[in-house]
Amino acid sequence: MIAGTRSINYLRISVTDRCNFRCRYCMPASPFAVIPHQEIARYEEILKITRLACEMGITKVRVTGGEPFVRKDIFSFLEQLCRMDALSDISITTNGALLSRDKMQKLLDMGIKRLNFSLDTLNPEKFAFITGRDRFDRVWDAIMAAHDLGMTPVKINTVVLRGINDNEIISIAELTRSYPFHIRFIEYMPMGDSPMEKQQQVLTNEIIQILESGLGTLSPLAHKANDGPAKKFQFKGAPGVVGFITPISSHFCSECNRLRLTSRGFLRPCLLNNYEKDILTPLRNGATDAQLKDIIHGALQHKPLFHTLGETRPRDIPISHMTSIGG
Ligand code: 5AD
Ligand code: SF4
Repeated sequence: MIAGTRSINYLRISVTDRCNFRCRYCMPASPFAVIPHQEIARYEEILKITRLACEMGITKVRVTGGEPFVRKDIFSFLEQLCRMDALSDISITTNGALLSRDKMQKLLDMGIKRLNFSLDTLNPEKFAFITGRDRFDRVWDAIMAAHDLGMTPVKINTVVLRGINDNEIISIAELTRSYPFHIRFIEYMPMGDSPMEKQQQVLTNEIIQILESGLGTLSPLAHKANDGPAKKFQFKGAPGVVGFITPISSHFCSECNRLRLTSRGFLRPCLLNNYEKDILTPLRNGATDAQLKDIIHGALQHKPLFHTLGETRPRDIPISHMTSIGG
């Protein structure tokens, strides 16, 4: 499918707004209600929308949350997703806390070999401070098990927070010298109504400076067609890759090839723009496939070429919270 000059082949599906963690940068500051179950898209509804999107050119899917593995029967949903021939690539973003070795083996058996873990620190106490849960060991074990089982690449997302984990940038990046991990440093996005609204960002240039002064030159890697927004680098001789996701310091919107389906069944062409289009209600009201495809097509025409995050006061912009959009 096409939006302007871009061809959109990547669908991110948020299967739930619920999460077993309470990451400071993700959760709203004010008390929040979870979305009532009947308003969450059912698996068969998500599958139907995905099938139509595939007919329009989607070939890659990433499943996100909240935390996808807190949703009941997620494995049978994933199995059905894996049976869709049009999908050449299925990956999952997870905090890893609920992923035992057996479950990961199950994922591999159904054909899912790519996981993105969220991990912002290697210090168990800091982990508890950031996520609100004392689960560092469990997450670390899950990452190691994914590696042992041959999942590849194992990606790790690290949101850099000044004064909280910026002193670990080097030790986290150093993992790429021991393991073939892709460590991706993400610039913190002020999402509005966040306990971290005043959090000072650490932008990519500064992270690169810290890394190069501590660990040597980072050589850029060629950008491949389906790489998405990460800019990738490598330390000399390292098996792993260091990536940077720069929503603040450098807009990558014009290259963004993704469409999001939120847990409430809304199409969201851009994470950082509030435009969303309800596709679930028309589906529940009996819209035809052609009508649903028109809705998908229409949503894509709202895919912006730039966002205003970092230029406006955070309160002026977003939005739904990351837990319901799916990161
Ligand atoms: N800024 C940057 N990244 C965020 N994530 C969640 N909230 C934010 C934010 N405010 C990312 C985390 C996690 C993924 C699900 O979303 O890195 O890995
Ligand atoms: Fe943390 Fe991810 Fe859960 Fe948000 S969705 S609270 S980032 S684990």
